[in-house]
Amino acid sequence: MSVEIFAKVQQLLDEVRASSISDAEQLEAFRIRFLGSKNELKPLFGEIKNVENERKKEFGQLLNDVKQAAEEKYEQLKTSLGASGARGKGSQLDLTAPSEVIPQGSRHPVSIVLNRIIHIFEKIGFTIAEEREIEDDWHNFTAMNTPEDHPARDMQDTFYLKDSTKELLRTHTLSVQARIMTSEKPPIRIIAPGRVFRNETISSRSHCQFHQVEGLYIDKDVSFADMKQTLLYFAREMYGAHTQIRLRPSFFPFTEPSAEMDVYWGLETEDDYRITKGTGWLEILGCGMVDPQVLLNCGIDPEEYTGFAFGMGIERQAMLRYKITDIRQLFENDTRFLKQFSGVI
Ligand code: DAH
Repeated sequence: MSVEIFAKVQQLLDEVRASSISDAEQLEAFRIRFLGSKNELKPLFGEIKNVENERKKEFGQLLNDVKQAAEEKYEQLKTSLGASGARGKGSQLDLTAPSEVIPQGSRHPVSIVLNRIIHIFEKIGFTIAEEREIEDDWHNFTAMNTPEDHPARDMQDTFYLKDSTKELLRTHTLSVQARIMTSEKPPIRIIAPGRVFRNETISSRSHCQFHQVEGLYIDKDVSFADMKQTLLYFAREMYGAHTQIRLRPSFFPFTEPSAEMDVYWGLETEDDYRITKGTGWLEILGCGMVDPQVLLNCGIDPEEYTGFAFGMGIERQAMLRYKITDIRQLFENDTRFLKQFSGVI
């Protein structure tokens, strides 16, 4: 009897020594088998009473050897497996652990609004024209009927390139009109989005760079009514189906007659009062019938063709849409600001 039991304990000791463990799951099985509350050694301790007296001590010693060997092995493996990065159960690679969060980018609010404007005009057949940011005086001013002594030409407003009075950073996307009219034949139906530059003091309301979208439609018999309907369509797509617009007479050197378009914003909250200066109306763009002199300057016969044009600032639309009160936020690339737009397209 005691020979068998001795052999059994010896076998356990051999198994403890020989067991190969390479991951956390195997280690846990090992712990349960040799050290857990129902481990295989326990019943053998109870067998001591059946061992003949002169071998009891030897038997007890052997059992303790197994227990100690199991404990040592367990402790040692626990540290080495832990250090090699084993986490949880299964393999060293824990497939159930939550993955690391991949930071999600977001579109810039200016891009979001611009995409929307482009989409609205594309639906009614306008194509996109993109042109250079470094322009010459002729395309930016002269062709657009802006006389030599016009204040917009003042060095204060325009960034001229070094040592040049001819090359400048375009002050408006109007320059694209001149580029397109001199290179394409009517009918012309384009919108021209892009960056523009003005030598202005940077503040919460103005910046030395911003974005505009220019619109130009030239064909036979294009009327002021066509322009009004096009802009009404735009305002309703942009600001809601029931948006009201009004056209206020204005002046621009490149259009005649000229107007500024307001949308009715509402006068319900304190913010509405502040944004609309107490009128409820908000100016969103300048527009008008292309001045015949501009058509002539660009080689288009004003007797045959007429057209309308409009121009709007994109930052302004973005600020209104997202209630942004400081234009500088649109240029600082602060991710805390930008990530508020994640998910918006
Ligand atoms: N170029 C004007 C500006 O920068 C905006 C503008 C007004 C463009 C009337 C137009 C227009 O095409 O017809 O403020």
